[in-house]
Amino acid sequence: MARTFTHHHLLGIEQLTFEDIETIYKLAEHYAVQGKSLPQKSKVLEGKTIVNLFFEPSTRTRVSFEIAAKRLGADVVNIAVEHSSTKKGETNIDTVRNLNAMGIDALIIRHTLSGFPAEAASVVKASVLNAGDGINEHPSQALLDCFTMLRHKGSLKRVKVAICGDLAHSRVARSNIHLLHKLGAEVHLIAPPDFISDDLKIPGVKYFDKMNEGLANVDVIMMLRIQHERMTTGEFAMSLKDYSQRYGLDHSKLEFAKKNVIVLHPGPINRDIEISSSLADDLRHSVIHEQVEAGVAIRMALLDLLLRP
Ligand code: NCD
Repeated sequence: MARTFTHHHLLGIEQLTFEDIETIYKLAEHYAVQGKSLPQKSKVLEGKTIVNLFFEPSTRTRVSFEIAAKRLGADVVNIAVEHSSTKKGETNIDTVRNLNAMGIDALIIRHTLSGFPAEAASVVKASVLNAGDGINEHPSQALLDCFTMLRHKGSLKRVKVAICGDLAHSRVARSNIHLLHKLGAEVHLIAPPDFISDDLKIPGVKYFDKMNEGLANVDVIMMLRIQHERMTTGEFAMSLKDYSQRYGLDHSKLEFAKKNVIVLHPGPINRDIEISSSLADDLRHSVIHEQVEAGVAIRMALLDLLLRP
C-alpha cells in the first residue's frame, strides 16, 4: 500500500486531515476483520520497542495499546510511574529524555498536564502517541468512538450526535468534537452550565442544558463520567442524585432520540449516575463493548502507520 500517512507523532485529532482519518480507518477495518479470523500475531513491528508511560491511572487505554503493539510483534515496556525515578525528584520531561536515550521507537504518554505529550515530542526522536493529556485531547479514543459509530451508521454526514455530561473537563469530548466535525456530523453538547466551557462552543456545535432538547431526534448519544479528579472543591454544586435525575441517561430519556439510537461511553462507567445500569447493559442500544473491541484495531492501525519501516 502506498503510504500517504506522513505523521511521526499522534498528538491530537486537530492535526489530522480527512485523508489521514480515512487511511487510519481503512487499516483499522483490516485489523478488526483479521482479529476475528486469521492468526492474530503479525511481524509488522518486529524489533520495535514501544514504551507505555502513564502518569495517570488507566486500564482500558494502556492495555489496549499493549495488546495492539504485541499483536503487531513489537516489544512493550510498561512503566509504573509510582515506582520510577519521578518519585526521586526527576522531572517528567527528563524521564522522557532518558527513555528516548535507550533507543525506543514509540512512547505512549498519558499525563495530567494538557500539552505534555507535545512537549515530549519536541525533545525525542521516538514517535509520541498522546493517550490523554489533561483536558486537551485523547485522539485514539475519539478515533475508536467514531469508528464504532461509522460501523452502525455507515457515514456520519449530517448524523446527529449528542455528547452529554462533564464536557468542560473532558479530553474525550474535545477530540470527538474535532473528529465529528471533520466527518460531517451535527454535534449537540448537553451539560449543566457548570460542565460546559466557552472553548467548546464552537461554530457548528449546538449547546443545550436540557436533555429533552439536546436529545431530540439524535442518532448517537455519548455519555461521559463526572471527572471529579480534574475539579477543584466547590466547582460542582449539584448533588449526585439531582445530577443523575436531570442528566443521567436511562430508557425513559432515550425516548427523545431516534428509535435506532446507539449509546456510547468511553468508560470508566459510573453506573446509575451518568447512565442507568440497565441501559449500559442493553445491547439493543449500548455499544460500549464494541468501543473497547474497536480500540485494539484502531491502535494497531495507528502504531502500524506511525512505526512501520
Ligand atoms: C477517559 C480518559 O481517561 O480520558 N477514559 C478512557 O481513556 N477510556 C475518560 C474518563 O476518564 O472519564
